[in-house]
Amino acid sequence: MSIPTFDPTGLEPRSATDDLRAESPLARTPDGTWVVLGHEEALAVVEDAERFSSAVSRFLQVPGGLDGAEHAALRAATDPFFGPAEMDRLAPVLRGVAAGLVEELLDGVDERGTEIDAVAALGAVFAVRAQTTWLGWPAELEPELLQWMSENHEASRSGDLSRTREVAERFDEIIRSLLAPRIAAGQDAPADPTTALLRLRLPLPDPDVPGSEERSLREEEIVSILRNWTGGDLGSIALCTGVLLAAVARAPELAERLRDGSEQEAAAIVDELLRIDDPFVSNRRVATCPVTLAGQALEEGDRVMVHWTSANRDERAFRSPDAFDPAANSTRNLVYGAGPHVCPGRPLATLELVTLLRVLLSAAQVRPAGTPGEREVAPVGGWAHAPVVLVPRR
Ligand code: HEM
Repeated sequence: MSIPTFDPTGLEPRSATDDLRAESPLARTPDGTWVVLGHEEALAVVEDAERFSSAVSRFLQVPGGLDGAEHAALRAATDPFFGPAEMDRLAPVLRGVAAGLVEELLDGVDERGTEIDAVAALGAVFAVRAQTTWLGWPAELEPELLQWMSENHEASRSGDLSRTREVAERFDEIIRSLLAPRIAAGQDAPADPTTALLRLRLPLPDPDVPGSEERSLREEEIVSILRNWTGGDLGSIALCTGVLLAAVARAPELAERLRDGSEQEAAAIVDELLRIDDPFVSNRRVATCPVTLAGQALEEGDRVMVHWTSANRDERAFRSPDAFDPAANSTRNLVYGAGPHVCPGRPLATLELVTLLRVLLSAAQVRPAGTPGEREVAPVGGWAHAPVVLVPRR
């Protein structure tokens, strides 16, 4: 089988991969990175963390860039931040955040409705407010975080690594300014997830204390975790909101099911709409040894890009990429990844998205706008702008 050459940068991820995937489950960028387009092949890579390492960056990424026992210890320590008790505590709080935002958007709007960009006006603002509320950060950070999100987005779109680094450093400064007063306050620091990270103990030896069996997180690890949570969350929630509202505006019967059905049904609808148009496009790995993938011989050190958007539309796994069928497709859905690095934030993401949709759809009808939307390009997917009209329900 000959391997097609494919450079996904700057292309709309779905149209760029739909035809190519039919030709081959693997492609190669001009600089030699393997692009995994098939569902089966994506799973083979992410479930085999020994042969496909996540240590792909020069920079510390916790837990995303870790492997093996260190990764497992960090996941075991931080996964409970997304556990059922924490989600139960957050549910009413997030409903309040969503209700406040929807009220602002509908303020003074009559039956002619109001046109908004679902990504910027709804998704991004909700993501920042939900995140700051969850982590116990001051509401005054909202403008700074919104500004940071758009700069981060532009930097990753540009592919300019030094720009991405600068934006990451600015974010680290914001985080350090939140950690410093908590460290100074000691036992009197507010009881929130940010303080809880400062107090976390890991079952790993402390290199500075001979014979020790556990240690605290180092400051750079806390900053990296919070960057992973915030950076991963804010942009993705905004993009997911765009995808969901664009779909709902064109399918009023789905809007009804999302609003009036059970939370489980709403979550299944959300997952399936995101499978069809997955805005969280790809993650990277590096081969740790010679390995065969889809009949191709990969060398040790070969770089691999797992293309979730393509894998989630693979017709060998799903009857047809665009056929909406939550019941049939849920077990193979890869929107939140798979294997040891599977997204720990999935319960929070689902809670945020379902809450926002249900609150919005109870207060307003969502209709298609007269102006066309604009699709995103890799490294992200979904919509750059998703205009929809909100008409208050009486
Ligand atoms: C909004 C929708 C979201 C999507 C579509 C999404 C998707 C993903 C995917 C596909 C992965 C796997 C990465 C890999 O295999 O290399 C991942 C990992 C991760 N996600 Fe999410 N995510 C979302 C929201 C969140 C949220 C809300 C948080 C936390 C607040 C979060 C935190 C993380 C972290 C920390 C990892 C790295 C896990 C590890 O490497 O062990 N994500 N996410």
